[in-house]
Amino acid sequence: MGMTRTPLIAGNWKMNLDHLQAVALVQKLHWSLKDAQHDFESVDVTVFPPFTDLRSVQTLIDADKIPFALGAQDISTHEQGAYTGEIAGEFLAKLDCRQVIIGHSERREYHGETDEVVAAKVAAALKNGIVPVICVGETSEDLEKHGASAVPVAQLEKALEGVAAGAEIVVAYEPVWAIGSGQAATPEQAQEVCEKLREVVAAKLGDDAGQSTRVLYGGSVKSGNIASFMREPDIDGALVGGGSIKVDEFSSIIRFQKHVGV
Ligand code: 13P
Repeated sequence: MGMTRTPLIAGNWKMNLDHLQAVALVQKLHWSLKDAQHDFESVDVTVFPPFTDLRSVQTLIDADKIPFALGAQDISTHEQGAYTGEIAGEFLAKLDCRQVIIGHSERREYHGETDEVVAAKVAAALKNGIVPVICVGETSEDLEKHGASAVPVAQLEKALEGVAAGAEIVVAYEPVWAIGSGQAATPEQAQEVCEKLREVVAAKLGDDAGQSTRVLYGGSVKSGNIASFMREPDIDGALVGGGSIKVDEFSSIIRFQKHVGV
């Protein structure tokens, strides 16, 4: 991982944990890291609970001064108005959401999110001062037909259309076949694609952005494989699904720097 970029470990809870379970998990995670004398400065942690948990987690983080950032799993393309069921960026910003996941493969697949919708959501996030965590990745079919990087590169290029140079973003490379399958990409495979994605950021947003933007890997990340990903020069962190809703597992992933053999 790059020398100047602070690693980011992000927990995408997906549709798991109600607000009471959310508070319990965040509290236990904080205790676990404190018990392990974790250096909170050395790695950024963001949790992305369901919308109904956000206020409770925000209140807890604030009251107990827990050094985690809060994020949301989606954002509306609209500012406000007659859009039943949608959540505006302004509401998320008021809840201290610092980041928002955009274009996750589950939203692309189950909610028909196109590259145009993804680009509009990226714009909505930036307008509200929220860092978009832009998810890209190929299906196993894409992989067979086009190789690993063609689809994620094209998705990122479209997501960044209209984004101004210097905007803060995070990129998450999540091969669809690796999500929830227990079959992670190899660190070498992931590095190869993440390097290409960084080149897209540099081409679209400038060399400084290319250097400073964090590129994450996601897909079956566990305590047992996180260190091998973090050794790669263009992988700056992980977007973790299943492993982020188990206290001991997520705590261990966050402490990847202490893993033996790194
Ligand atoms: P898993 O870690 O459960 O494979 O999920 C990855 C993911 O989709 C994170 O956004």
